[in-house]
Amino acid sequence: TSILILNGPNLNLLGKRQPHIYGSTTLKDIEDASKALALDKSVTLSFEQSNSEGELIDFIHKARNTQDGIILNAGAYTHTSIALMDAISSAEIPTIELHLSNVHAREEFRHTSYIAKVAVGVICGFGAYGYLMAIDAMLNHLQNHD
Ligand code: DQA
Repeated sequence: TSILILNGPNLNLLGKRQPHIYGSTTLKDIEDASKALALDKSVTLSFEQSNSEGELIDFIHKARNTQDGIILNAGAYTHTSIALMDAISSAEIPTIELHLSNVHAREEFRHTSYIAKVAVGVICGFGAYGYLMAIDAMLNHLQNHD
């Protein structure tokens, strides 16, 4: 089983960026913790991050034939990008939408998601631990829907 963990704009600054909202854990810390979990579960993880919408779409296109699922924290593109939504629909592999923060407890403009419309499910509000939750949720989903 292989899963792509794809992170969008500004998430490269995780750990330094608004730590009162997003925590002090870096993306590298999250990658290390995820890979440790993956060892136990015999799953191969790929990590990618981009600040550009087009590059994120390219990563989703590549995942189409190489990955079993995608865990996507699309950052602010979540709330704006029909193009990312269409890319996920075209990928024809399950996607889980992920956010560190509880977007529903924040500004109104974070309450809408184009990604959620085409995702298997959404995990938000659990900080860095959400990535581990999402890996578990994806493995469970793949087991029950293959
Ligand atoms: C985020 C939530 C988004 O609204 C925000 O634009 C981000 C991070 C999160 O992980 O909580 O960049 O996706």
